[in-house]
Amino acid sequence: QRIGVLYGGPSEEREVSLRGGTAVLRALQDAGLNACGIDVEPHYIAAQLGDAGVDMAFNVCHGAFGEDGHLQANLDNLGIPYTGSGVLASALSMDKWRCKRLWQSAGLPTTRGMLLRADDALPNSLSSWGWPLFVKPNRGGSSIGVSRAGNTQELESALGAAFAHDSEVLVEAAVSGKEVTVAIVGGEALPPIVIEANGPFYDYHAKYIANDTRYLLPSGLGDVLDRQLQDLALQAFSEIGARGWGRVDFLVDANGAPALLEINSVPGMTSHSLVPMAAQAIGWDFGQLCRRILNAGKG
Ligand code: DAL
Ligand code: MG
Repeated sequence: QRIGVLYGGPSEEREVSLRGGTAVLRALQDAGLNACGIDVEPHYIAAQLGDAGVDMAFNVCHGAFGEDGHLQANLDNLGIPYTGSGVLASALSMDKWRCKRLWQSAGLPTTRGMLLRADDALPNSLSSWGWPLFVKPNRGGSSIGVSRAGNTQELESALGAAFAHDSEVLVEAAVSGKEVTVAIVGGEALPPIVIEANGPFYDYHAKYIANDTRYLLPSGLGDVLDRQLQDLALQAFSEIGARGWGRVDFLVDANGAPALLEINSVPGMTSHSLVPMAAQAIGWDFGQLCRRILNAGKG
């Protein structure tokens, strides 16, 4: 079997994907598997896969095209099995607002949010949400284009920054408490990690560059809350029909009440990334993690 590790791609998270994808490729090759790397070009993906003789894809592309269902549709059409979610769950994972609506309709707790399009006036109701507000491109990743707005003036520039990346922008109310993430691999929820960024929030710098971001694992939240977060992550995952692997991000307020933030259907696999960190904590080294993701994609 010839495994194609798909990385790079056209999105704003290309660099993150190249870093993670290279690590995955090396791990699969070190394990003696017949694997090659493909820097995904949307127009030529069928030829790229054909030329390389790929019959199974390990997808490490983030963001537009690679994580939003388009690549998955191409792979479906070519009859090539792949790691991670299918077309619909990928598209939903990428669309923070519509994913939130689905979770809310299933009775799952989420952060409070509102979708704005470029020409929308700011609704008056927003004034009751308090400050700060978080402003995000609706279909972004790695916190690119995300800002924390502490007042009306900052909100204006935050909206401008987010609309530079997407025609739809999500405004979310703050939750004062902790940021927590739960990795899911092959139907199993890994131990939660609490993230303490040394800045206004867990932004691109804190994710991939800073060495002073703190990761608490064990989380220090206690067994009961850990278990509750793992169960919620699995529910959120299955509610949108996700499969294989993923990572569910939460905010937990001062009373220990969790709220879903979002799900990532192709989580980062860099040396700074969270899924490899959670795997390490239960004794899976990076190579073992990659093999488990691969096996979960064969079903
Ligand atoms: N979007 C980045 C890669 C993550 O969720 O890890
Ligand atoms: Mg994300």
